[in-house]
Amino acid sequence: MSEKKKLRCGIVGAGFSASFHYEAVGKVYGTEVEIVGVHALQGAEQYAAKRGIKLFKTLDALLDEVDVVHCCTTASSHEEVTVAALKRDKFAICEKPLTGYFGDGSEGFRGDNFPKTRALEHALGSIRRMLAAEKASKGRILYAENWVYAPAIQKEREIIEKTGAQVIFMHGEEAHSGSHAKTYAYWKFSGGGTMIGKGCHPLSAALYLKMVEGRARDGKPIVPAGVSARTHAITRLPNFRDEGHIRCDYFDIDDVSLMHVVFTDGTVADIFASDVVLGGVHNWIEVAANNHRSICNINPSTAMQTYNALEANFKDIYVVEKIGTKQGWSNPSPDEDWFTGYPQEIEAFYRSAAYGEPVESDSRLAANAISTIYSAYVSAERNGAEVAIETF
Ligand SMILES: NC(=O)c1ccc[n+]([C@@H]2O[C@H](COP(=O)([O-])OP(=O)(O)OC[C@H]3O[C@@H](n4cnc5c(N)ncnc54)[C@H](O)[C@@H]3O)[C@@H](O)[C@H]2O)c1
Repeated sequence: MSEKKKLRCGIVGAGFSASFHYEAVGKVYGTEVEIVGVHALQGAEQYAAKRGIKLFKTLDALLDEVDVVHCCTTASSHEEVTVAALKRDKFAICEKPLTGYFGDGSEGFRGDNFPKTRALEHALGSIRRMLAAEKASKGRILYAENWVYAPAIQKEREIIEKTGAQVIFMHGEEAHSGSHAKTYAYWKFSGGGTMIGKGCHPLSAALYLKMVEGRARDGKPIVPAGVSARTHAITRLPNFRDEGHIRCDYFDIDDVSLMHVVFTDGTVADIFASDVVLGGVHNWIEVAANNHRSICNINPSTAMQTYNALEANFKDIYVVEKIGTKQGWSNPSPDEDWFTGYPQEIEAFYRSAAYGEPVESDSRLAANAISTIYSAYVSAERNGAEVAIETF
């Protein structure tokens, strides 16, 4: 085999996602990657010191020294970081969601009471700017939607491609008992609530699988055409009874949502997202096709099932994300990152940056997911009336 290409990368952001990106870069085998350093508004010193990498005071200084940038910042700065990287002809691995609408900057902005058509227009504008920057660049947007690379979804891709399946109906969900990030509670940082923060994962998987179906059968992806949606803020209901198990300090975002997506071929997908579900992360999508049916369990998976007699015995044992108790039966994930698709997505992105290999999770999928989600927020404001989706 010819020599592996060497690439230098930098991490922007120093929180939760910056940590699993770092871990995943360490597992890349198709190229040689040097993690040069980190830049972040907060937490960068500690992040750099822990890993023995350089601390960059500015994004520009980091861009000077790298080929690939990991955009692991709060969603409100994804456009700024990604476009800055593309302008310098660098590859930008951008965390989900690609972009969004983060308010008007005013003191009194509240995500739950402004006209959602404004969010849709602004989000579409942001998408166009990002796609234009990509077009003008030698770099690419590599969309870090790990669900696309989760082994269960890639196995489903193979089934659809090799059997010529028609996917008729999908339903999927991402749910747990509340995001860890403090900023997540505010629309101005997150660009919305569960519909964008969580729903974008199963939604992107559904959009991806219909894209795969169309591509396999007649070389043309099948895209979403319209969406009906509902959103709710259950933990902010005056009668919500907090027993300390579910996060309930959200400021202006939804915590339960449903998107009903209709594709251009008339087939449908129902996507649930919520922050009110106990018992660990609940991430799955079920695919009903004309020749098979698959239930893709990302979390929990039954790869391992353990009965633990005493909570204290497992005090030093990581079981699975957001599990409330380790006593009794649980489904420990023997390699959670792998089941989630983190190392696989990062491997694919470095192969793309180094050797020009195409990626399954690209800016077009990212753009269609964001366009669908903000159309869904418009629909939710109209109590579920269908809204047409602009696609890219
Ligand atoms: N794919 C997944 O499974 C997954 C999981 C969690 C989070 N995420 C995504 O990752 C992104 C970050 O989330 P997180 O949980 O890591 O958040 P976090 O709050 O843990 O960390 C965010 C980091 O970004 C930094 N930051 C914010 N704005 C910045 C800017 N303009 N320039 C430089 N640094 C900036 C902050 O200082 C902080 O270090 C979000 O878009 C989130 O949706 C994805």
